[in-house]
Amino acid sequence: MPMHIAVFCSGQGSNLQALLDAGESGRFQDAKISLVVSDQPQSQALARAARSGVETLVWDARRFPTREQGDAQLAGEMERRRIGLICLAGYLKILSPEFVRKFPLRILNIHPALLPAFGGPGMYGHKVHEAVLASGAKYSGCTVHFVDEGTDTGPIVLQSAVPVQDRDTVRSLAERILTEEHRLYPLAVDLFCRHRLRVQGKRVSVEEKS
Ligand code: GRF
Repeated sequence: MPMHIAVFCSGQGSNLQALLDAGESGRFQDAKISLVVSDQPQSQALARAARSGVETLVWDARRFPTREQGDAQLAGEMERRRIGLICLAGYLKILSPEFVRKFPLRILNIHPALLPAFGGPGMYGHKVHEAVLASGAKYSGCTVHFVDEGTDTGPIVLQSAVPVQDRDTVRSLAERILTEEHRLYPLAVDLFCRHRLRVQGKRVSVEEKS
């Protein structure tokens, strides 16, 4: 039985597309993307999922009196479909600690900077690149990490550095990093599916191919 992967998105879903393409090319051994969740009914991610014949779920958390109740239902949706890995790809809702605790080391996220710098509450989208440019850092990049109960604090799986150029604007830096994200995220998912990630505390190592 393949492992079922759910991808959570809120926006354009270009990372979702990179994952769908990787899955369609047979890259994820014994795993398939079976569900795309979006909190935004207009998200382009839903159209991308539909084009690939992947089930979609529009998740309107406002239907529930509290975030915890909504997240408990959402966790139930995952369990019902036997989801083994959740990939956050531009999902703008923060998952409750209760939800995260139900899927230990089974939720990945991609962040458009080199964590632990330029992460944490409020650091998303263009705000990340603005902060990088304002800091004068010579490198930014992207990070795939496991999700723990903090914001952008979970064990780092893979990172890729992208040099900041003198003429960079938020837009140009974001674009170059996004291109790199599309390479990095499928690689991390591939390693997860092949059970090659070993986690010790905050450190994640990649086991050699057997
Ligand atoms: C990416 O930059 C990702 O790092 C961040 O949100 C953005 C999502 O972009 N978490 P897309 O929707 O995958 O194009």
